[in-house]
Amino acid sequence: MTAKKTYLITGGAGFIGSHLAACCLERGHGVRVLDDLRTGLESNLEGLDLEFLRGDIREERTVREAVKGVAGVFHLAALPSVPRSIKDPWTSHDVNVNGTLRVLLAAREEGAKVVFAGSSSAYGDTEELPKREEMAARPQSPYAASKVAGENYVRVFARVFGMPNVVVRYFNVFGPRQRADSPYSGVIAKFCRAALEGEVCRIDGDGGQSRDFTYVEDAARGTYLAMERDVPGGEVLNLAGGNRYSLLQLLEALSDLVGKEIPREFGDPRPGDVRHSQAEVSKAEELLGFRTRVDFREGLGRTLDWYRSKRPAHSGS
Ligand SMILES: NC(=O)c1ccc[n+]([C@@H]2O[C@H](COP(=O)([O-])OP(=O)(O)OC[C@H]3O[C@@H](n4cnc5c(N)ncnc54)[C@H](O)[C@@H]3O)[C@@H](O)[C@H]2O)c1
Repeated sequence: MTAKKTYLITGGAGFIGSHLAACCLERGHGVRVLDDLRTGLESNLEGLDLEFLRGDIREERTVREAVKGVAGVFHLAALPSVPRSIKDPWTSHDVNVNGTLRVLLAAREEGAKVVFAGSSSAYGDTEELPKREEMAARPQSPYAASKVAGENYVRVFARVFGMPNVVVRYFNVFGPRQRADSPYSGVIAKFCRAALEGEVCRIDGDGGQSRDFTYVEDAARGTYLAMERDVPGGEVLNLAGGNRYSLLQLLEALSDLVGKEIPREFGDPRPGDVRHSQAEVSKAEELLGFRTRVDFREGLGRTLDWYRSKRPAHSGS
């Protein structure tokens, strides 16, 4: 049995953070969430017995208060969008880099370990698959550059100050509570909504681009393990299933689930997007004993059911 601790989750009212909060609580730990609700929702935390602090990770006093008494910090708060970072690079940098530095400084003072939510976008558009953690970072967007900068700070704090920090890199996480209502939403969230509303799915490019889609409960459990397991400070670990599916395969699987062909239209490829992404997963398996448990189709079914359950009662199937 691991001793029960209190963990801070920055960005805990967001999509992945709220599942991580549930994961920690289920295992008997205390949870504090710091979130400014910029993209997160307090309703994501409904039914969870935790402490919620509304505040910005860029504010020194707020962050110092938030880390008081915690054993570890899951640092997930960020502006997680490529298009948004292209439109407004400064704010992405400010939150994702300066905010991360604030969190690191406060965690160091408190003697708390930091697990940082990194991104597969760090690998950029290399042809080589699968993406191994040792590969050089090749960010293709301000978002990716900011996440790599955050990772570098997290690792430098491990090296220079001896903090046992770990970086986990997510690969297109999907599942319940992912927002479908913004132009910056993830593709599965948007397509599920379009499929249920009978709308046309818009594909940026030819649909051949592929991703290592990871169900959110798996991503949350892997993140939790990165905190709990004794991993060398400064490690970077991919958290994913090690498979890839194209957007056309995604649409096919969704069509099967809703029982009808989903209309689609094709547009220009998105600037800053990478063509293919697939993780090498052996390192997380070795160091965390982590393997995904929910496969793509199972996760897609659960996700679609969740969006269906959130539709107003009068809106049909
Ligand atoms: N979803 C993915 O597929 C994916 C892939 C790679 C990396 N990530 C990383 O995982 C983390 C979580 O992403 P998500 O998909 O849950 O997104 P999300 O937008 O649902 O969660 C981010 C949370 O951070 C909060 N936040 C933003 N700026 C803040 C600030 N200045 N102060 C306090 N809180 C702030 C938001 O309100 C939100 O609740 C992010 O760091 C993201 O970069 C996600």
